[in-house]
Amino acid sequence: MSVWAVLAAAGSGERLGADRPKAFVRLGDRPLLAESLERLEASQWVDAIVVAAPPGWEEPVILLAEELGCGKVSSCVAGEATRAESVRNALVEVPEDAAVVLVHDAARPLVDDEVIGRVLSVLDEGWDGAVPALPVADTVKRVDGDRVVETLDRSELRVVQTPQAFVASVLRDSFSGDVASASDCSSLVEARGGRVKVVEGDPRLLKVTDGADLDRVVALL
Ligand code: CTP
Ligand code: MG
Repeated sequence: MSVWAVLAAAGSGERLGADRPKAFVRLGDRPLLAESLERLEASQWVDAIVVAAPPGWEEPVILLAEELGCGKVSSCVAGEATRAESVRNALVEVPEDAAVVLVHDAARPLVDDEVIGRVLSVLDEGWDGAVPALPVADTVKRVDGDRVVETLDRSELRVVQTPQAFVASVLRDSFSGDVASASDCSSLVEARGGRVKVVEGDPRLLKVTDGADLDRVVALL
């Protein structure tokens, strides 16, 4: 069973507000992208990697992969305006005979083999996909502007992370329509009636959105 990883790294990092795309912002003394790239490379589960790079940054991505000795990086494509469109570009480079695609956000640097193993293992049980998820700690309300409409039942809610794993053919089919507004890959699979299982997430998989998140990740390195 071949597992291809798609690393979504094409975002501009607007909320981080740096002078370069988020993937190349410093995490410690390396670009943020280095952390997830190296961890996917070291994974016993991952056979090959396709990176979606910020448009115009394909060359620096390839150089970084070479510098890190990431021989599993098979190609690097330019991303597009939204995450899903960037992932779609990367999927074109995943060969037809790939069994499973693991999609991960470079914005979550601290991916490890335990969570990768958890999402992959349930695909053998007949699920179309698997996502790592955490329970919701806060009370969550639906609002209309600044008016509270209702309080949701927290026990039915989960915060979902990446890496997300999918049967390759299912993921490909899910990307055939208009994907632009999808915030994760699972939502596209769900929309086609795919069965996606939630597995235990990892609090260390926090997503770098602003400067304070960078400090939090550095503290966990
Ligand atoms: N991503 C991508 N292509 C895009 C937008 C996002 O590949 N057009 C990737 C990002 O590189 C990131 C992940 O999707 O790894 C999650 O996106 P997010 O955290 O929102 O990153 P950015 O879009 O870069 O940040 P911002 O929304 O603040 O601009
Ligand atoms: Mg974004």
